[in-house]
Amino acid sequence: MSAEGDPAFPWLRDDPLAIQSRYAWLREHAPVSRVRLASGQQVWLIVGHDEFRAALTDARVSADHAHPGYPTLFPIVRHDTAGPRTYSAMDRGEHGPHRRRVDADFGERQVARRRKQLEALVTSYVGRLRKLTPPVDLVTELAEPVAASVIADYLGIPERSRHQLDKLARILTADPASTPNPSAASADFRAVIDDLIAASERDPADDFIGRLLSRYRWDGAYDHAQLVELIGGLVIAGQQTTSHAIALVVLALLRHRAIWNAVVEDAAVAPRAVDELLRFVSVADAVTMRVALDDLTLDGTTIPAGEGMIVSGAGADHDPRVFDHPERVDITRDLSRSVAFGYGIHKCIGQNLARAELVAVVTSLARILPGLRLELSETAWPLSPGSPINGVRALWSTW
Ligand code: HEM
Repeated sequence: MSAEGDPAFPWLRDDPLAIQSRYAWLREHAPVSRVRLASGQQVWLIVGHDEFRAALTDARVSADHAHPGYPTLFPIVRHDTAGPRTYSAMDRGEHGPHRRRVDADFGERQVARRRKQLEALVTSYVGRLRKLTPPVDLVTELAEPVAASVIADYLGIPERSRHQLDKLARILTADPASTPNPSAASADFRAVIDDLIAASERDPADDFIGRLLSRYRWDGAYDHAQLVELIGGLVIAGQQTTSHAIALVVLALLRHRAIWNAVVEDAAVAPRAVDELLRFVSVADAVTMRVALDDLTLDGTTIPAGEGMIVSGAGADHDPRVFDHPERVDITRDLSRSVAFGYGIHKCIGQNLARAELVAVVTSLARILPGLRLELSETAWPLSPGSPINGVRALWSTW
């Protein structure tokens, strides 16, 4: 098929919670197919669960963002070979030592230690909702500020830099076709982080940046520019994916009233509900991008060396060969094969934090606003058009 004839990706979703219908057709007829990005680049879209795991663990598949074939889907991702690289662009071998220095702060125990603080922060935002006159947009009043504050607190970002970072992070994860000037936003974003790291270099504190800096120095691997990329990546990933996840999980909960009621009655249900809803909403559908270093045959289709691929999380997490009736929300199902946080060496570093945050949001909403419900008819919310992250722009609710 010609480049012009390949379907555009990402496509506008009719409903943020019904993304799987398109993938169901592809899984049946073309599980490995070609799509065209807004940049004009042709890449491969992979939609099955087995194929997801195969692609993400194959040594012929690389996460190297600077490779000319790597998909150009997010304006923030650096595609220049000369620029600094972080673990998210590294492959097996090189990736491990870098990732371990960061993992040290994101394990279950480390997150659990900060749970009380996180819950207090989330509760303060939910408490503020009560003072507003409904209908209230839960995206602007809850999802965005909670996600931005949690990651900023966790990383120790000072108050003075938060607003600007937040604004720039949104530009850098929007639809590339409608992003006014991604290079300027990228440069501004990196300049803010650069200042924070420079301050920590002069006067290191016992905060996330300070500890990371000393781990790199201790290993003799310190590189200022690389740390700018690394912290920037955490801010973006921690803020954007999580804010969309909060909005979508709440939307799905409010549409599945029986599960909402179950959480209202018993907060202990929340962790399971959150895990199932994360599978169901597939927020990070297209973040798993790669490039084939060698010819690679997946499900009978050969992806030629040098070509980019988008390994769809929604395609995998809605595969009926793994999840019975994937279109249903079932909090009793086995979720051990869910890939909501990815698979393989690049599996999400922030998964413990994101889960804790979502559980805090859901339990806090259920406790403080048990009568929460959606305000507008379901088609009334404008979606994020063309965004590689699944999400909603507004979530009008009342109680
Ligand atoms: C519900 C919220 C979140 C979802 C659904 C999510 C999803 C994902 C997925 C699917 C990947 C794999 C990407 C790949 O294989 O290329 C990933 C990686 C990553 N995530 Fe998350 N994420 C979330 C929250 C967070 C948070 C809170 C942080 C920051 C603390 C974070 C930081 C990262 C980083 C740095 C990576 C790259 C890891 C590596 O390359 O080794 N994410 N995430």
